[in-house]
Amino acid sequence: MSLKNWDNKTWLSSKKYIQSFNNFLLKQKKLNRNSQILDIGCGRGKIIGSLSSKLKLINKPIGIDLVNHKDKDKKINFKKTDALSFFLTNKKEFDLILVKQTIHLLKISEIKTLLIKMKKSLRPEGKILIFTLNPYKNEIPCFTLMRSELLKSLNRDKKILRFISKFDQKGIIKYLSYKVEISKKKYVDMISRKFISILLDLNKEQIVTGINEINFKYKKNLKFNDKLICIIIKNN
Ligand SMILES: C[S@@+](CC[C@H](N)C(=O)[O-])C[C@H]1O[C@@H](n2cnc3c(N)ncnc32)[C@H](O)[C@@H]1O
Repeated sequence: MSLKNWDNKTWLSSKKYIQSFNNFLLKQKKLNRNSQILDIGCGRGKIIGSLSSKLKLINKPIGIDLVNHKDKDKKINFKKTDALSFFLTNKKEFDLILVKQTIHLLKISEIKTLLIKMKKSLRPEGKILIFTLNPYKNEIPCFTLMRSELLKSLNRDKKILRFISKFDQKGIIKYLSYKVEISKKKYVDMISRKFISILLDLNKEQIVTGINEINFKYKKNLKFNDKLICIIIKNN
């Protein structure tokens, strides 16, 4: 099952979120109109699309994903492919390789190969920025079953983070947090559309029970911090 609804009409696709995310990106890696950017698991490509306008990029940023969304951003050069296959033919070098909330969908052996390939495809001053949910501090509103799935997934994320830190011992860790305010109604809608990968394997009944629990547990509006952790890998 694929994550089609991940960034569809949620805070993740809001202008404010994308701007604050891109401001964070630009603090970690100086970019200009000549920069070459690759986004692995780009979804609709709204983040690099917005970055492209902001920087007035000469070369369209490349976004790759397994899913080809009809409403993807027009400012990106989209390729429907999996991350590893992309590098079989790629000859370009990048200033920034972004992997946002996608690394957890790969096996450790795939992550290893991907890290090697990404590093080989960096320009001399290039950086890889890998973002994933902060597994140590997480505030995502959950129902009981969702919480236990989330904890399992976050434990795996901790392993992935340890693996990446071992792979590149000079990797730098940064944190970012985004204040989310969303109506319970919208959040419930996100759950019913299985916006997060931990929900993909749940059946209809489990989702309905979960939504009842959320309706009971939370007030009309939800406020929480969407917390990410970022590993920065340089080309040396
Ligand atoms: C949770 S979404 C994140 C989307 C986007 N990066 C963002 O943060 O808004 C994960 C994305 O990774 C894609 N994906 C999963 N496995 C992939 C793979 N092996 N190669 C390329 N994309 C992949 C999914 O199709 C999905 O669009």
